[in-house]
Amino acid sequence: MCGIVAYIGQNEAFPVLIKGLQLLEYRGYDSTGVATLNGTLNLYKQKGKVQDLLNFTANKKTDGTVGIGHTRWATHGQPDNQNAHPHVSHSGRLSLVHNGIIENYATLKTALQNKGYHFSSQTDTEVLAHLIEDIQTEQLVPLDEAVRLALQQVRGSYAIVIMDKDDKTRLIAARKSSPLAIGICKNGEFIVASDAMPIVEYTNDIIYLDDEEIALIDLINGLKITTLDNKSVALNIQRVDLSPEMFGKGKFDTYMLKEIYEQPSVLRSMINARLDPQYRILFDELLPHMDKFLKARRIIITACGTSWHAGLVAKYLFENLARITVDVEYASEFRYRNPVLFPDDIVIAISQSGETADTLAAIELVKEQGIFTYSLVNAVGSSIARLTDAVSYLHVGPEIGVASTKAFTGQVTLLSLLAIHLGYMGGKIPTQQYTELSKELEKLPQILAKTLICNAQTQKIAYLLKNHKNALYLGRGYNFPVALEGALKLKEISYIHAEGYPAAEMKHGPIALIDENMPLVVLATNESQKEKIASNMHEIKARKGIIIAIVDEHDTQITQIADYVIVVPAIAEPFSPIVSVIPLQLLSYHTAVALRCNVDQPRNLAKSVTVE
Ligand code: AGP
Ligand code: GLU
Repeated sequence: MCGIVAYIGQNEAFPVLIKGLQLLEYRGYDSTGVATLNGTLNLYKQKGKVQDLLNFTANKKTDGTVGIGHTRWATHGQPDNQNAHPHVSHSGRLSLVHNGIIENYATLKTALQNKGYHFSSQTDTEVLAHLIEDIQTEQLVPLDEAVRLALQQVRGSYAIVIMDKDDKTRLIAARKSSPLAIGICKNGEFIVASDAMPIVEYTNDIIYLDDEEIALIDLINGLKITTLDNKSVALNIQRVDLSPEMFGKGKFDTYMLKEIYEQPSVLRSMINARLDPQYRILFDELLPHMDKFLKARRIIITACGTSWHAGLVAKYLFENLARITVDVEYASEFRYRNPVLFPDDIVIAISQSGETADTLAAIELVKEQGIFTYSLVNAVGSSIARLTDAVSYLHVGPEIGVASTKAFTGQVTLLSLLAIHLGYMGGKIPTQQYTELSKELEKLPQILAKTLICNAQTQKIAYLLKNHKNALYLGRGYNFPVALEGALKLKEISYIHAEGYPAAEMKHGPIALIDENMPLVVLATNESQKEKIASNMHEIKARKGIIIAIVDEHDTQITQIADYVIVVPAIAEPFSPIVSVIPLQLLSYHTAVALRCNVDQPRNLAKSVTVE
């Protein structure tokens, strides 16, 4: 986590840093800091959001044409002014921002303390500032060399930018397992940031640093990139297709609501691009690998959080439509379990950000064993996308709200297309069914637009939900993962405890929780299991639970049992998760708003979890 931004050029750095930090705030927002340089170092750090820092620096000296900034998500040391970045070296000469974790910081810290270095924070980061300075003064090497030697001693992950008080023409940046992009402007300015968002207002020409690369950003001599073992790296400048307008909230108050409402249009673009006029599904990026997919012994899907829920939907889709065995793994468990892998397995990573540390590490582990890897990613050029043997991008546009919404429906839609494609290619789906399913998916955007009409009803029900401390979400079959996702959404942004459960499992334990104070959100849109769901609902009613049911427009049965009903349009069952998740997104949204919670930046969370 953490957002980093740095600027060096002819203009004032401070406004560029603040604007950049505001765009990166989704990555972490417990404290913020900036340092600019103009002869002297202007260093300001504040607990809280970028706005708090802005208020604090009003009327203070912030001038300088070079600067670094940071918005933090604490890993080591609580969020306070002292632990906020930038951190400054012993002599006050170097200042540094860091995203990641220095795993061997304790050993390095003790060694430095024994040499007389004084630490003013509890962070792992501060060790880097002192270590680099120690090497610089002891070995009399230039700063970039000192950075290289210091990083050779470091274990863990880092994206760092370092500024030297005595040299306002240079910045040093480096990365390992945490993202860092360098924007190259026509007028010779450079903007460094954790992602492309703060950069694209100034330039679309971006270099994404690779692991163990160090960039020497020099206003006079330009940019030079070398590896940790001092080999020079050719500059790979990419032109990114993003514009600053994509990062606004449009007419909405929050990113989350904007992203919920964007779902019909972004999925329309995805589906249009993936279907030809004869309703054949296109996965050109997988053409060279199709044989591997069709001969796969098993597909292992690895992901975290909401992306893991999308993976779970894929298990139902792939097993049902393509008849391929699928295991769905939490990346954090999978990578440490010493999993048994076969050469003809395929491992699929699902990740909105493409930077989630656990998912990235799971893919690294699998690659070491020579297993074919594929990813479904939203952020173009991200680490997971670059690491896997093949990638399909969601192209649903930047998702900024911490609670994932359009990325989930994007992932499930792409996985649906893939399951049908593989089912057809592998001879498991006859041509007629293939065309029918493709045609049904083509209608999805229109159906989603109609689904959003339930907004008013979810808002009313949110007023009920907000008064409860707990909630259960139940679903069967395709809708079981949706129950998990609905519960996660409620927990994340409204801080109401919620659990998702397979509806039939309720009687094996959670039923003990049900009384007249327990709201239960029941997903009842799957036609094939309606009778069974109705029985589960009777079991709830017999114990006086409050039922909020999600039903489709043809329902007559469930409506009679439920206390509250949210109606959504009907769709073929394999695609029902994409529709039934919408009311759950809205329900959590309105509950959080009713409770006056910060929807886009819920407490303790960050959008992209780049630490383990
Ligand atoms: C979703 O609402 C979450 N904030 C979180 O669970 C997220 O899905 C998870 O961290 C995985 O992120 P990724 O898709 O970027 O890998
Ligand atoms: N480990 C550093 C800190 O706690 C950076 C945190 C991060 O990148 O998440 O300040």
